[in-house]
Amino acid sequence: PRTIRLASIPGDGIGPEVITEALKVLEAAIPGDVDLQVTEFQLGAARYLATGDVLPDDELAAIAAHDVILLGAVGGVPGDPRLVGANIERGLLLKLRFALDHYVNLRPTALLPGVISPLAEPGDVDFVVVREGTEGPYVGNGGGIRVGTPHEIATEVSINTAHGVERVVRYAFAKAESRRSVLTLVHKTNVLTFAGSLWKRIVDEVGAEFPGVTVDYLHVDAATIFLVTDPARFDVIVTDNLFGDILTDLAGAISGGIGLAASGNINPDGTYPSMFEPVHGSAPDIAGLQKADPTAAILSVALLLDHLGLADAAGRVTDAVTADLSVRGETEGPRTTSQTGDAIAALLVKD
Ligand code: NAD
Ligand code: IPM
Ligand code: MN
Repeated sequence: PRTIRLASIPGDGIGPEVITEALKVLEAAIPGDVDLQVTEFQLGAARYLATGDVLPDDELAAIAAHDVILLGAVGGVPGDPRLVGANIERGLLLKLRFALDHYVNLRPTALLPGVISPLAEPGDVDFVVVREGTEGPYVGNGGGIRVGTPHEIATEVSINTAHGVERVVRYAFAKAESRRSVLTLVHKTNVLTFAGSLWKRIVDEVGAEFPGVTVDYLHVDAATIFLVTDPARFDVIVTDNLFGDILTDLAGAISGGIGLAASGNINPDGTYPSMFEPVHGSAPDIAGLQKADPTAAILSVALLLDHLGLADAAGRVTDAVTADLSVRGETEGPRTTSQTGDAIAALLVKD
């Protein structure tokens, strides 16, 4: 039988709650001839507060030795003074994305049947954001001068390399070709002229190799308008790390809420394990209350299965979620996190 070694990082807040349900569904969906081995890594703000560790090198190496990673959410209450120096987001989450060369941050959005969008007339919402994952303003290329004085200078310099932009743009074109063949570059080329011209030029160059794909361009501010007024116009959006972060919370909001938004941090070359996680964070405001929607984590499992070449199992998970969402409005009262996980697991069609 095929063995799949999965590193699970439940993390903080609602992370462990949603990962419990995601693993429940994964174990129910995995084909019988696959031996799934799950190793749990306790990392995040809670671990840091208990031991002072963020992501020790030996644990990073151990995680990297797995086939795939499933992560819940990491990070404490925003502004918690005990976490300022640790910077869990950078030291753990971004360290994983960078060290494992997750240059594609894949964030699909679809308004599924029965799900209520806050938009009055959302239309056919079904698009994918291909967010660059290893560059941009996220690289930590900055610093402070005269910190704490009235003359403080803080820099946060965005890094965009031709190599880095080209590989994610190429992935996005291939993705568009496999869908409705429309690719929208979202940037801010009118102001960020250096990075903008690199992105634009590479989209033009790579686009020449994909003559069947229609290329569109939007400034990021205008993109937020159309995500609200006409989201159906989007098929594949390719964009920089920070714009992609912001646009995908908005994408989650218009398609039924952040509790449904799944993502994959992908190393398409297969050199390192890819990592799947809900788009949302640790939600300290509802942590421990069984109020979190585990659907985003469960849909991240579908992306994980698909990435591993287990398309049938991925389809069964997506179908079970779709079936559950279509009747959710009819169930009485709010469900707990584990009730939703149970409902989805119960709807899984056996392989
Ligand atoms: P958040 O996504 O955790 O929460 C924003 C809002 O969405 C909250 O009201 C929360 O209750 C709600 N929400 C989020 N997930 C939900 C779910 N599954 N079901 C129902 N409601 C849900 O964003 P935040 O408050 O800005 O960040 C909280 C912490 O999480 C911070 O420390 C932040 O850095 C971290 N964070 C981590 C990740 C990650 O690990 N990938 C992502 C985003 C934020
Ligand atoms: C996300 C999160 C992360 C990001 C943070 C927590 C580093 O917001 O996964 O969307 O900005 O990428
Ligand atoms: Mn985000």
